[in-house]
Amino acid sequence: MARPLIMDVDTGIDDAMALALAASLSDYDLVAVTTVAGNVPVERTAENTLRVLSWIGSDAPVYRGMSQPLARTLHTAPNVHGNDGLGAWQEPLARRDVEEVSAPEAIIQTARRHQREIDGVFVGPLTNLAVALTLEPRLAGWFRTVTIMGGAFYSPGNVTPVGEFNKNSSDVTSSVAEFNMYVDPEAAAVVARAALPATWIGLDVTHQVSVTHDVWRCIENVTAPEPALIREVCRQTFETRRMDKVHLHDPLAVAVAAYPDLVTVRHGQVRIDVGNVIRGETRLIEGDGRTKVAESVDSGRFMDIFRTALGV
Ligand code: BDR
Ligand code: CA
Repeated sequence: MARPLIMDVDTGIDDAMALALAASLSDYDLVAVTTVAGNVPVERTAENTLRVLSWIGSDAPVYRGMSQPLARTLHTAPNVHGNDGLGAWQEPLARRDVEEVSAPEAIIQTARRHQREIDGVFVGPLTNLAVALTLEPRLAGWFRTVTIMGGAFYSPGNVTPVGEFNKNSSDVTSSVAEFNMYVDPEAAAVVARAALPATWIGLDVTHQVSVTHDVWRCIENVTAPEPALIREVCRQTFETRRMDKVHLHDPLAVAVAAYPDLVTVRHGQVRIDVGNVIRGETRLIEGDGRTKVAESVDSGRFMDIFRTALGV
């Protein structure tokens, strides 16, 4: 039987593909989607989520969440995702609106309803989950698993300006923090301290999986909603930004939630830097404990799952 899944997103190009993947996997019943400010402001992430779900025919309820990080000014990523967050994707308008309940409240209510059966996949800044955990500390025990796209544990990040703290890298363009951690490090620290059955999927593994230009060209003429969505949200990255790949950060988190053995992991406790110099840097203090951090990924198997599920 399909397991209940709740997703928290800041939709975003790769969030859109993650939603499509979650809705396509028979392992999951997508019971709620909560939205947060991140790649674009929260009004946009909510609207984008509704547009994506309408396009793929999912009627999962959508909840709007926190519009600002816990203690920082919002930092968005129009340079990567476009001003609208979906790479200037034209179609379609959403055919429905968000629910009245706020995202943190929806996380609490949904997890309470599906206690110890529900999986959570969090692929944006962790503001909504941090607020939910603060409002209802028992929430941590209600998830079967939690999968978080966030962090750069063994490799450079993708946000922090160039600095002297670059991790093990001679690449002068490298940085320390991953985007979701950088945007709301205080929220990530709250989540990292909670007793969640969490697996953290960082850039160390998400940079191993991508839609390449060659794969993208294979879906030039598709008409089915899922591959057409992928073609359109990736178009700006390939045609205007002239990149040669689109990383599948958030889809990998969905796939690992469904198939945990896609990654090898290390155990311990996650620490987030909440200072200003290396803001959002993530470290794993290895040891006992149920927190897991992905170390390597079977990228070939992941791509098979992604392409089969979405008709790419
Ligand atoms: C993460 O940042 C966002 O831009 C992506 O959607 C992904 O969740 C990667 O660092
Ligand atoms: Ca995201």
